[in-house]
Amino acid sequence: MDKKVLAVLDQLTLEQKAALVSGKNMWFTAAVDAANISAIMMTDGPAGLRKQIPKEGETLSVNASVKAISYPSAALVASTFDRSLARDLGQHLGEEAQAENISLLLGPGVNIKRSPLGGRNFEYYSEDPLVAGEIGTAYINGLHDKGIGATVKHFAANNRENHRFTNSSDMDERTLREIYLAPFERIIKQAHPEAVMASYNKINGVLNVQNERLLTDILRQEWGFTGVVMSDWMAVADHVASLQAGLDLEMPGKGDASTSEIVDAVKAGTITDEQLDLSAGRVLAMVVSLLDKKSAQVPYDRGEHHEFARKLADGGIVLLQNKDHVLPLKSGKSVAFIGAMAEQPRYQGSGSSHVTPDHVVSALEAAKQADLDVQFASGYELSKTAIDEEREKQAIELAQHADQVVVFVGYRDDDESEGFDKTNLSLPENQTHLIQSLAQHVAHVSVVLANGSVVEMPWRDQVDAIVETYLAGEAVGEATIDILTGHVNPSGKLAETFPVKLADTPSYGTFDQSNEHEHYHEGIFVGYRYYDLHHQAVAFPFGFGLSYTTFEFSDLVIGDWQEDNLQVTATVKNTGSVDGSTVPQLYISNLVSPVEKPVRELRQFDKVAVAAGKSKMVTFTLHARDFSWFDADNMTWQADNGLYEIAVGSSSRDLPLTKQLTIKHFASQPLVVNMDTYLNVLLANETTKSVLMQMFGEQLAQFTNQDDASAADQQMLFNTPLRALVAGGFPVAAVQAFIDQSNAALKK
Ligand code: BGC
Repeated sequence: MDKKVLAVLDQLTLEQKAALVSGKNMWFTAAVDAANISAIMMTDGPAGLRKQIPKEGETLSVNASVKAISYPSAALVASTFDRSLARDLGQHLGEEAQAENISLLLGPGVNIKRSPLGGRNFEYYSEDPLVAGEIGTAYINGLHDKGIGATVKHFAANNRENHRFTNSSDMDERTLREIYLAPFERIIKQAHPEAVMASYNKINGVLNVQNERLLTDILRQEWGFTGVVMSDWMAVADHVASLQAGLDLEMPGKGDASTSEIVDAVKAGTITDEQLDLSAGRVLAMVVSLLDKKSAQVPYDRGEHHEFARKLADGGIVLLQNKDHVLPLKSGKSVAFIGAMAEQPRYQGSGSSHVTPDHVVSALEAAKQADLDVQFASGYELSKTAIDEEREKQAIELAQHADQVVVFVGYRDDDESEGFDKTNLSLPENQTHLIQSLAQHVAHVSVVLANGSVVEMPWRDQVDAIVETYLAGEAVGEATIDILTGHVNPSGKLAETFPVKLADTPSYGTFDQSNEHEHYHEGIFVGYRYYDLHHQAVAFPFGFGLSYTTFEFSDLVIGDWQEDNLQVTATVKNTGSVDGSTVPQLYISNLVSPVEKPVRELRQFDKVAVAAGKSKMVTFTLHARDFSWFDADNMTWQADNGLYEIAVGSSSRDLPLTKQLTIKHFASQPLVVNMDTYLNVLLANETTKSVLMQMFGEQLAQFTNQDDASAADQQMLFNTPLRALVAGGFPVAAVQAFIDQSNAALKK
């Protein structure tokens, strides 16, 4: 621990230390007046500041916060696949935090989207740990650029909302490590966030806020985290047990009650002085370091921040379908905007990430600003789900007289939020009906979707274009118009699979079935890892997104290992007539390890801008970990020598470049022969094969040369361990001698 912090701790009384391990109130740490250390303020959150300033004794509603910029929510940020935009977001939030006197942000949220029904999916990045970990890292780097602290949340396996305070996420160790802990591990090691927020749920029966293995053994001892572990709000059930397990800061804190329970526990010896010093010291160290980084409260440039919100949304919006190139909209032709959401956009999610913006721009407004010849009909009422025949009729009439038709639909605020999960993936009935009626009456319909998470699209073959805007923040309208008109060439890619229907999803039938236990039966097969394994048709695959130009991939070159680095290069050519950006993705297939494996896994990605007609080379650096799986028997990451396939392309299902390579670079596990070793293992190893031939070559030949010994018989023989030979009458002494000689030869 830092000497300065130790010196302060030394001066503090037991009560003062105990006060530090709970929040002073909803948003502040406790001040240490004795040492002249003030409190710091923390606030949500991932998509904009939710700074609440309640008066003494007052509790504000979730939505009562100071005016701030509403940025695209995490689902759209991830669709940019753009580390530099994510870092820029962190910097913008950092500037706002400085201006608002906030030291620590409660974000990013990096949980895996396990089921598309998850209520907070809009607040999370991806179904893939690499994307979540990389975008989360970039966001935190941006906050750090501005001297603001980050709290990575919700640690861990917090993938559903129903009964979130008590539900247990039950899974095997390999699934936990490879899928659910992986984004956190990457972020802890790469971005060094100040804090980790322990989530409400349990893992395998133990509350996360009391889980010593999670909070201390894995997070601190294995990954080297030195910051503060705080609880999610009101997650603490037993403050003393939490502190013992490694939780440093109870939030929001229960006032004097929190302090006295810790004081009593220390006096009773349930918590040692050292334990309290450790946690109080960590909180103090974080506070002191963030106070040091505080800069003057300079107001931020709202206009520039709004423009950035637009740029970020521009980079994330995904063009899912574009038959006959109906988009971009042709200039000089009339356009009908249909759907209440064109006028009343849905641009953010509900719950603790809710922001109070003062300047939301709808698509209709933005179209007028862009001088488009636009007519509008609502088609449905946002507050209702029943089909409104009159509104539909008006909408169809308007559409029939327009050259181009765009319909705006999406989930409503009440359809998805923090605090509960969805039960279906359908748009409200009136919206679905409107799309289908329009498609029947007019030739070319484009659909603009606003939603926090996956939507079923039973109408997708009836419409020409589909534009996924997710929850795009306060500049939603401008960004949508940028994409619709081609002012910006779309470059967003899906960071989650869009299945054809809910029943196709990996956790279907198990998700949210029990209040107490969520069984992760699908294991490591989440998202595309599942759909690819089952060769399942999907509506839109992971990594997919169209552009107004086309790209060609070529020249896949795999280099040689340089220490722990393996470089792979490929060339991307923009073969169309407009400039554009795309996301080259590199997947690895493990063809060697004798364990369950996904067909392929994303191991690198990049976002590259390529001018029309030009080419760019992309370079990916891979490490041993990218070839590894988590061996739960030995509690270690295992990379096996042998055959792999590397594939590069523009989505998980469009991988034009593939190459196989045999890796011999990893330290291989030494073979140790015993009675359980199989003959085929012995024959596959040059050393043991030679000993085997020397000692038992004759007997083997006798068997394999028998006239009626078929290839199948041989295979059956070789799929036998040594002890079965003994059981079959082979002299045990001879087999033991073989084992001893083999092991001696292997050691040489
Ligand atoms: C949420 C956190 C949030 C906290 C403070 C909790 O309900 O789960 O994500 O940071 O509230 O608003």
